[in-house]
Amino acid sequence: MKLTSRTTLGLLATSIALAFSSVAAAQSPIVIKFSHVVADKTPKGQGALKFEEIAEKLLPGKVDVQVFPNSQLFGDSKEMEALLLGDVQLIAPSLSKFDRYTKKLQLFDLPFLFDDMDAVDRFQHSDAGKELLGAMKNRGLQGLAYWHNGMKELSTNKDKLTRPEDVKGLKFRIQSSDVLEAQFRALGANPQKLAFSEVYQALQTGVVDGQENTWSNIYSQKFYEVQKTIAETNHGVIDYMVVTNAKWWDGLPEDVRAGLTQAMEEATVFANNLAAELNARDRQLIVDAGKAKVQKLSKEDVAAWRAAMEPVWKKFEGDIGKDLIESAQKANKS
Ligand code: LMR
Repeated sequence: MKLTSRTTLGLLATSIALAFSSVAAAQSPIVIKFSHVVADKTPKGQGALKFEEIAEKLLPGKVDVQVFPNSQLFGDSKEMEALLLGDVQLIAPSLSKFDRYTKKLQLFDLPFLFDDMDAVDRFQHSDAGKELLGAMKNRGLQGLAYWHNGMKELSTNKDKLTRPEDVKGLKFRIQSSDVLEAQFRALGANPQKLAFSEVYQALQTGVVDGQENTWSNIYSQKFYEVQKTIAETNHGVIDYMVVTNAKWWDGLPEDVRAGLTQAMEEATVFANNLAAELNARDRQLIVDAGKAKVQKLSKEDVAAWRAAMEPVWKKFEGDIGKDLIESAQKANKS
């Protein structure tokens, strides 16, 4: 083709435009979508927002963190696949939801394993606890941090909820965990695995009679409006692992990964310091609302729940590992 001055100018303009767009592309921030299933005002919701704030401050123009709460982007059933497909970069499922990827994390669902949240925290900071962050690497998932929510309470649409016999024959919503399924079967109840976003409606319509959760989830999802009694069983824990796609994480520029690591560390401290306060606040808000009765339990009542749930341990000891269970138990005594 014979080049006229006009085509030369045209080509020049195109190559300048291309050069500019590739510079812009090189400079455009890495989009990091953080999807989760709870409300902004919960411990996890606050942690995710804090991570966004710190990461964007530490890496100005380099990352664009976008937080999607309340199952807006992906709910329980899709978020792990979405992470592996690269449709989202960070999620923070409860430790009960990793069944399909590792049996080790089933540890956290053993009823009455931890005396309180301090024991949970001590275990997560121990060598055995830290090692579990890498337990799913061979499945493409890298754990970055543990985030606290709190101890679980039990709620039903019945007036009486003090002893295990009060839940016999009742239907309970559970997270997708075989340990939790066994826990409710041990109580003579009927567990049903349901995504978190479906729980309110299931309680409201009577598809299930009850559920187990933390104060912050019971308040922010309004479960207390459709339940009659919430018993302070503290029989287990709901905590989270913030996970990312291992390949994506390893492929990040060094400086970005370092900045995100620091942001995650700082957001973790922030969220974990806040969790107890938010749960205490939401417990009080539920009491003040006066819709569901908050049932205190005596030592004898708690002992009865513990005894009724105990058979679950034996069933899962093989999968989880005796050593790991013992390491977790040690956190109660330190
Ligand atoms: C639930 O499904 O009940 C909780 O794990 C939700 C959450 O993420 O706290």
